[in-house]
Amino acid sequence: MDLGLKGKYALVTGGSEGIGAAIAAVLAHEGCDVAICARRERLLQETARKIADASGRRILAIPADLTKAADAKNFVDSAHREFSRIDILVNNAGSAPGGVIEELTEQDWELALQLKFMGYVRCLRYTLPYMRQQGGGRVVNLIGNDGNKHSYWEIAPGAANAAGQNLTISLAGQYGKDNITFCAVNPGPTRTERWNRLVRAMARDWKVPYEKADALAPDSIPLGRIATPEECAYMVAVLASPMAAFANGTMIDFDGGQEKALMDVGRDEIFQKE
Ligand SMILES: NC(=O)c1ccc[n+]([C@@H]2O[C@H](COP(=O)([O-])OP(=O)(O)OC[C@H]3O[C@@H](n4cnc5c(N)ncnc54)[C@H](OP(=O)(O)O)[C@@H]3O)[C@@H](O)[C@H]2O)c1
Repeated sequence: MDLGLKGKYALVTGGSEGIGAAIAAVLAHEGCDVAICARRERLLQETARKIADASGRRILAIPADLTKAADAKNFVDSAHREFSRIDILVNNAGSAPGGVIEELTEQDWELALQLKFMGYVRCLRYTLPYMRQQGGGRVVNLIGNDGNKHSYWEIAPGAANAAGQNLTISLAGQYGKDNITFCAVNPGPTRTERWNRLVRAMARDWKVPYEKADALAPDSIPLGRIATPEECAYMVAVLASPMAAFANGTMIDFDGGQEKALMDVGRDEIFQKE
């Protein structure tokens, strides 16, 4: 099926690896020119080159640290200068530390909100005026199922995610009249560098081997495995396309039906055995 994305211009934050790189690759494969940003310039350039070679599309690599408003503005403005329009914004760059409430520091909470929530706010602030001017656009926010499913070890990401979900539905209400739509995809565990880092932190906190910590998530998912970045990317591409034009304020849990509470039970069992 042709998604109708040929000739569109897209921005993907955190597009140098993981889910963001997969999204940029799928959008390019579907015919979009894409601007990606991240902090590590070399990896960003390499990823852009690979996607451009594979798709034949124009891929801009614009270094940015989205915890800084000036970098977010430069990313959006530079991409707009090159493309002359922005049809799609995918807010994806995010990470927040795991940990339990009595151990998380002020700095951990600050970190959680600075990128995962405020990074999205910043890119939206600078992109929406362009979308309004051109008569419409589509926004897809990569959030996370911690925002609506409880997990005591992931309360900092959970808070940032819940804020992002509320932002998504609030803006959907405000900008419908401008033909700008907002959707959110809430991934569960997905095999990326970020997931590997989280598993290492879980293993450290619960003093269990990496393999044991890594097995907790599949046990909490009826499908018995975690997602691949590409699976998530196809979901995002559909939501970003004209095929999903009537989806607004739509939030999709993309987590294989994960029961977070089950994952917590697994952790309690580990604690008891220790
Ligand atoms: N993987 C999962 O299991 C999972 C589950 C639920 C939700 N999510 C969400 O899905 C999104 C993507 O996750 P992922 O697992 O693909 O992450 P990842 O593998 O850690 O990739 C993150 C990307 O964001 C960039 N980035 C990090 N900090 C940045 C900053 N300050 N400014 C600009 N770019 C920055 C990274 O490049 P640099 O480091 O070079 O900047 C990289 O390109 C995140 O919002 C995450 O919260 C992931």
